[in-house]
Amino acid sequence: MSFVKLLCEHTRNPLGIGEQHPCLSWVVSSRHPVQMQAAYQLQVWPEGSSPEGEGSWDSGKVQSAENLNQPVGLELKSETRYFWRVRVYGEDGAETPWSPRRWFETAFMKPGEWKPSYIGRRRKDTEDRRATYFRQTLKVKGGVARARVAITALGVYQLEVNGQKVSDDWLVPGWTNYHKRNQYLIYDIGPMLKEGTNCIGIILGDGWYSGHLLFGHDRNLYGTTPAVAARISIQETDGSARILETGPDWRMSTGPLLLSDIYDGETYDARREKAGWSLPDYSPRGWRPAEAVDADPGVLEAKICPPVRTREVLHPQVYWQQDENTWTYDFNQNMVGTVRIRLPKARRGHKVTLRFAEMVEDDGSLFNNVRNARCIDEYIYSGDEPEEFLYEPLFTYHGFTYVEVIDYPGVPAGDILEGRVLATDIPESGSFRCSNRELNRLSLNILWGQRGNFVEIPTDCPQRDERMGWTGDAQVILPAGCYYMDLYPFYRKWLRDLRDDQNENGAFPDVAPDILSSYNQAAFKDKPRYGTAGWGDAGAICPWVLYERYGDVRILEENYEAVLRWVRFCEDSTTGLIRPDTNYGDWLDPLSVRPMDAQTPNQLVGTAYFARSTELAARMADVLGRKQDARRLWGLWRRIRKAFAREFITPSGRLVGDTQTGYTLALGFNLLEDPLIPKAVERLAYLFERRNYKISTGFLGASLVCDVLSRFGRTDVAYEAVLQREYPGWLFTVRNGATTMWECWNSWTPEGGFRDPEMNSFNHYAYGAVGNWMFQNIGGIMPDADAPAFKRFTLKPEMHDSLSWARASFDSPRGRIESSWKRTARGCRFIFQVPPNTEAKVVLPAPSKRGKLRVNGKALETSVENGAWTFALGPGKYEVTAV
Ligand code: BGC
Repeated sequence: MSFVKLLCEHTRNPLGIGEQHPCLSWVVSSRHPVQMQAAYQLQVWPEGSSPEGEGSWDSGKVQSAENLNQPVGLELKSETRYFWRVRVYGEDGAETPWSPRRWFETAFMKPGEWKPSYIGRRRKDTEDRRATYFRQTLKVKGGVARARVAITALGVYQLEVNGQKVSDDWLVPGWTNYHKRNQYLIYDIGPMLKEGTNCIGIILGDGWYSGHLLFGHDRNLYGTTPAVAARISIQETDGSARILETGPDWRMSTGPLLLSDIYDGETYDARREKAGWSLPDYSPRGWRPAEAVDADPGVLEAKICPPVRTREVLHPQVYWQQDENTWTYDFNQNMVGTVRIRLPKARRGHKVTLRFAEMVEDDGSLFNNVRNARCIDEYIYSGDEPEEFLYEPLFTYHGFTYVEVIDYPGVPAGDILEGRVLATDIPESGSFRCSNRELNRLSLNILWGQRGNFVEIPTDCPQRDERMGWTGDAQVILPAGCYYMDLYPFYRKWLRDLRDDQNENGAFPDVAPDILSSYNQAAFKDKPRYGTAGWGDAGAICPWVLYERYGDVRILEENYEAVLRWVRFCEDSTTGLIRPDTNYGDWLDPLSVRPMDAQTPNQLVGTAYFARSTELAARMADVLGRKQDARRLWGLWRRIRKAFAREFITPSGRLVGDTQTGYTLALGFNLLEDPLIPKAVERLAYLFERRNYKISTGFLGASLVCDVLSRFGRTDVAYEAVLQREYPGWLFTVRNGATTMWECWNSWTPEGGFRDPEMNSFNHYAYGAVGNWMFQNIGGIMPDADAPAFKRFTLKPEMHDSLSWARASFDSPRGRIESSWKRTARGCRFIFQVPPNTEAKVVLPAPSKRGKLRVNGKALETSVENGAWTFALGPGKYEVTAV
């Protein structure tokens, strides 16, 4: 095997690519002799042709060391499958054979090529929240050569063919600002069609379009009538081709789904079931013609990131009888998704209810922190059920550890529930382990926080009436997130949502899609829900992090103008280049009473982030070759630094904002002149020592503080902070049974119990940002933005007395990177893996000036400088011993 990865747009064999020039990436196997690429050759050809045949493209031998994100240089036709292959030439003249061929299939390549014809059901009664069922039959004469469905919705759909679900996608097409952009997906239904009559069925739910969304009881934020549009194209083996679109000739009806809502859960009344409704021979008596719905969703685009799918299944660990009618199941893991329940027969009209909670009170009752989200699933019996059957809701999800089953017919067994974990279907890419079990659990909690909150968009939390794309949260978790998952397509899509809702004045909103400033202006008129420091800056920070980690320059091109507008907005909002107080600041500082009243002045936080966004904009301009912009932006950045110094640095070098967060931002965002740096580092360390290494930062400080300590040589302090088991500290939550990240350091304390449930989620990933530090400093795997996507990277594990070993492994875009260390009787043993076509700079702590280093058994002649050995490693696997 010469290749281990052959991807188009981060996906193996994607169906429905709308990109004009999709990007191809490959990774040569670490066993192949060609380990450093000097050149490559790509070939792409349409189905039915050949690499040299009609319509094909050959890049020729391209002298380039880049193996990621190379665009297809062909004008692609719509709805066509293309094959591709690559071969790689090594630096030493050796070459790989052609890779196995892979394919991608295009969607609609020209804007406006598919004009969706939407159908829906206008509801007379505002309380009518029923899902709508649509069906249409179609005849197939002979064999099917090719059949595709393109489908989009203002709402959420389930697509069926002949009584079968077409895919296991959930909540599709997903969430965007539906007035500006909507997504479509393409499915291959060829294998599901048969000769004769076939039936296409669609269930349509409210979803984000018209379901309950936002605090309170807001509904219909985007419109009152959910609608769906599908286009079915069929080519038969006899050469005939046909296109069928949704329209008033489809039939529609309601059914058992009386309510199926993201926040509120589902009410399924089996008495209203229409058995076999999507089978061809079903007779749709009483079904009405579908209503045509006029809709203009703006840009219609092929979905660029995978949809939500069931990722894994959990089983409850414990269950108990709570009262006469109620049994409570404990999944022992705060998870996000649905529950599938096995039910026995019962009388018509009997109702089984499922309630969900992240925590239980001392008496075993559910802790209610979901505010106005109803979070209840109900099954009402028809009486015609078989002896045993499964029920699972359709257009909802819950965040929970505990499930109450109320009015189960008879005595339930321990295995009647399955917890089905739903998340955007992106591959997980990292693992962290070490000799400290609590740190391992912390890493797992960070991962579960992402699993639970990467549901179509990056959300703040998955359980209450919120689940919104809070920009600050999404920004702070991203650097850690990229170690745990391949986040590129997911964030690339979300950044479109963010740009769609960027204000005219350049301000980014607090949430994307923006349902706060656009739909709830009345409620928030006193405080704008955009332009917030640390939150709006996500628009500049996220593209940069994605570029650094995935090396795709398109992310900078796509976001660049929006970033410039953001920087301009920030500048306009300043007085003497000092940003005003923009509400949240270092949100949820444990030493403050109200979440927005952190010890660190909001103006300091705002100005530091303004500098950061400006610096990143300048760096983007450098990468994109926008010289004039770069000059201007670097100039602005220098002026902001000066203003920052004037306003927030006292003559003795202390900050006005003499806090952990203050120094973290000043150091982390390069705001201090060299002579002040050692003092600031010392002060930051002191602020930890003085508090016995307890953290006293909110969301913003916590996301960077350990990285900053390590960057300036105080990994010792970072370790103490991370290993802190007392409140407030990361391991405090672990020690108290956390299986995800908590929203507040004091979400629960032994003294105070639960904090106010109004704002107390147990699955908020923001503090999980520390995962970045764990991978980069305990594991030692550190990227280099000058050689993005780990083309070059550093391996610099750092140790702590309390750990005897640690291991981080990470499937980087260029292949697996591994870094592990273990103390030995005389020193330390390291194992490193450096992927093909990359280069690592290794920095290891040297026990003494006379220490010895062996790499794969051979002595390495290298001198000790500043207490460390530094040397380079090319692709390969290494055992390094240090004594
Ligand atoms: C959310 C946060 C968010 C914050 C804004 C909260 O309600 O859950 O995570 O960033 O508001 O300050």
